Parts: sequence; C-alpha cells; structure tokens
Amino acid sequence: MDKIKNTNVDEINSQPQRKRIFSGVQPSGIITLGNYIGAIKNWVELQKDYDCLYCVVDLHAITVRQVPSELRRRTFEALALYIACGIDPEKSTVFVQSHVPAHAELAWILGCYTGFGELSRMTQFKDKSRKHSDNINSGLFTYPVLMASDILLYQANLVPVGIDQKQHIELTRDVALRFNSVYGDVFTIPEPYIKETGMKINSLTDPTKKMSKSDPNPSSYIAIIESRDDTVRKIKRAVTDSDSTVKYAPGKDGINNLMSIYSCFTGKTFDEIEKEFDGKGYGDFKAAVGETCADGLDGIRNEYARLIKDKAYIESVMKSGAEKAYYLSRKTLSKVYRKVGFYNV
Ligand code: TYM
Repeated sequence: MDKIKNTNVDEINSQPQRKRIFSGVQPSGIITLGNYIGAIKNWVELQKDYDCLYCVVDLHAITVRQVPSELRRRTFEALALYIACGIDPEKSTVFVQSHVPAHAELAWILGCYTGFGELSRMTQFKDKSRKHSDNINSGLFTYPVLMASDILLYQANLVPVGIDQKQHIELTRDVALRFNSVYGDVFTIPEPYIKETGMKINSLTDPTKKMSKSDPNPSSYIAIIESRDDTVRKIKRAVTDSDSTVKYAPGKDGINNLMSIYSCFTGKTFDEIEKEFDGKGYGDFKAAVGETCADGLDGIRNEYARLIKDKAYIESVMKSGAEKAYYLSRKTLSKVYRKVGFYNV
C-alpha cells in the first residue's frame, strides 16, 4: 500500500460519483488518425461529464513482439499525445497499464470465468494469428480477458472505442454478468460508446481495410504527429474509385472514407458535404479534406512538440495517474478476492 502514499485518497473519495469511463490505446505503433477519430477525440469530449481513466495499454502491446526501447519510447509518447489531444490530467486519470499490477491480477481471475470457445470466436484473434503466424502466443488468445480486466477493475459504465473493439466489450459484458450471477453485484456492466461517423476510418491505400498503426506502408495512414505536408500529400493520393462525384454510396469506399474524415473535422453531415462539392471533382474534394485534416491536427502537433520535451512533467502525470488508478483498482480487486474465497490476513 505504500505506493499510494502521495495520493490524496480523501479527495478521490469525496469526488461526486459521476459515471465512469475507461479506454486505452496500445503503444504498438504510430498513433493514427483512426485512433484519434475513433477514440481519443471522443475521450476529450467525454471528460467534462464523466470520471475518465485513459490508459496506455502496454501489457496488451507485448502480445506482438516489440523492440523494448521502442515500446518504452512509444509509451511515453502516447501519454504525451493524449495530453496534446486535449486530455486534461487535472480532470482525467492518465496512466500506464503496467504501473498498476491489478490489471494482470484480475485478468487471471477473469480468465477462470471465460470460455475457450468464447475466446476462439474473437475476430481480432483470428486476424492477428494470421498476421503473426510465427508467434501465436497464449497472450494473443487471452488478450480480451485482459481488456475485460481493464474495464471491470474501474467499474466503468462506458467504453469509448472504434467498432473493431465492440466484440471485446460484448465479451467483457458476458464475463461480468457471469461473475455477478455467481457472486452478486461485483462488477458494473459496461456499455460500448461508438460514434456512427468515424467508428472505422479506413486505409488510404486500401479503403476496404481499417487504417492501422501496424500497417507497414506509411502512405496508408495519417500519423497524428506527421508533418502537415505529409497529411495533405497522402490524402491527395488516397485511393478512390473511377467516378468523380462526391457522393456517399455503397462500394465507393475511398470517397466514403474521406467524407467521414471531413465530417469528423467539420461537423458537416454527408448531405451537406455532397452539396458543398456538387459540380466539383475528386481533386478539389481531396485538397479540401487534406487541408481541413491538417488544420484540425495543427494544434495537437504544436502542443505535442512542446510536451515531448518536458519529460519531468509527463513523468509526473504518469506517476500521479498510476497512484489514483492503483487506489481505485485495489478497491475492486480486494472485493473480488473476498468473493472468490481467497484467504485474507
Ligand atoms: P488499439 O490500440 O488498436 O486502438 C485504440 C482505439 O482506436 C480505435 N481505432 C480506430 N477507430 C476508428 N478507425 C480506425 N481505423 C481505428 N483503429 C483503431 C480502436 O477501436 C480503439 O478504440 N484492445 C484495444 C486497447 C484496449 C482497450 C482496453 C480499449 C485495451 N484495453 C480497454 C478500451 C478499453 C486496442 O487494441 O486498441
């Protein structure tokens, strides 16, 4: 318990009980526009009404082989990027998963309440085992149990994510309901928070696929911290169809994707976007999307450049975030230990 000696426990306990949010990004690659639009942008909006915990999930990242020095650097950078995107560490708890041991401890217990068959049905496991056929480790298989642990540990009500994580949240709910049916109301049953527009931003080079930070082709994604010129150029070269009218329609994956990106930055509906570009071609549209996206990311990029130099500040946020999360996590974990029958001295 000495770990929480600097935490103002009274302050945490006296905060009015707002609904809680948990979410995270893996520091397994360059954080992309997909992560921003599908998750982080929504996190920023939610922090004014909810009690939020935003985590850099490094335990998840090692399910795929990582270079240790790069993982360490990316963990630091991801946390700085959360803040640069607008997460306020005074309002939200920002921390690194491996700094709070209860994530792994609860995951073990939840694993004993999760079926092999349930985990075998996870589409992300199937995709990742195909991609990393030389390293299909058991962590990759039990990954959704660790994710359930992340969420249930903090009694989260809502989990803001992109659509690719929906299945994992459904599993989390199933495991929580199963546990509660045996032991009483131990866990809050979480709901996914997924915005229709932006829930799946696609690759710029193959718009039938999700934009991914692990894609080896940097032209396929916009990195939040790349240069303005790179962003404009990549969007200009984004793969589209042979039509030329800016219209949201089935099969026009490239244009639909760019319209979603444009909509997320401007707040315009697809109808409004179609009207705006009526009579104009893809060239004009792509130029506008590129500029708008670069404008939307400019502030984040400047703030990130400033923050990344301030190691002392980022580390202080990491430490106080871990202390708060540690305290909250222990409350749930000790309840779970008691419920399952572990001996306490
Ligand atoms: P990760 O690191 O793959 O992605 C982080 C978040 O970004 C969303 N996302 C996208 N949204 C829209 N379009 C895209 N192209 C796109 N790519 C990624 C993801 O849906 C996610 O919300 N397992 C999670 C991390 C995690 C987590 C958690 C999330 C671990 N524990 C607990 C929520 C709660 C993952 O791999 O996300």
